[in-house]
Amino acid sequence: LLTLALIALAGYLLGSIPFGVILTRAAGAGDVRQIGSGNIGATNVLRTGRKDLALATLLLDAGKGAAALLLARWLIGGDLAPAIAGGAAFLGHLFPVWLRFKGGKGVATFFGLMLAAWWPLGLLAAATWLIVAFGLRYSSLAALVAALLVPFYAVLPLPGLGLPVSTPVLALSVFTAILIWIRHHENIARLLKGLEPRIGAKKA
Ligand code: G3P
Repeated sequence: LLTLALIALAGYLLGSIPFGVILTRAAGAGDVRQIGSGNIGATNVLRTGRKDLALATLLLDAGKGAAALLLARWLIGGDLAPAIAGGAAFLGHLFPVWLRFKGGKGVATFFGLMLAAWWPLGLLAAATWLIVAFGLRYSSLAALVAALLVPFYAVLPLPGLGLPVSTPVLALSVFTAILIWIRHHENIARLLKGLEPRIGAKKA
């Protein structure tokens, strides 16, 4: 139990590194929390006009989730400890101690977690995001659809793809999906009013 608590703490600390804030500041691109939606994620970093920083934020925010999960798999093994470490990293991104617990929406970290937990599930999640994002050009809607569908992908009877996934991985997908929906309440309201900016638009 102590090991699980330590692995959760390590996951939280990894997840709480706000790469969007760090990178935009380091690059002199201003504080990402002062522009666009005010969010610290890659979508909002893109609104600084710096595609390179947005890509780096996406990869690092995804990578920290994957790293937390893989670290637990390496140290402890199985699926439970990795799911706990991954869930803790996700909470770290949403509620980072460094930003007075005002963190992001968890989308990139979610993709990193799903890829690390079971890569076919991660690929299905990413493919869903890409289809909606390129089709309709709303980053938030793409995230909402992907988060909604991933738990259903997770229980598909497709043994060739290693599905359905284990219970801890399924639980992680449901937990993160619910939090993603909660964190996007402002985006949902804007989408419903037709006020959500599309990808590539500079203003939010
Ligand atoms: O990854 C978060 C994205 O889904 C929405 O971001 O900045 O448009 O609220 P934003």
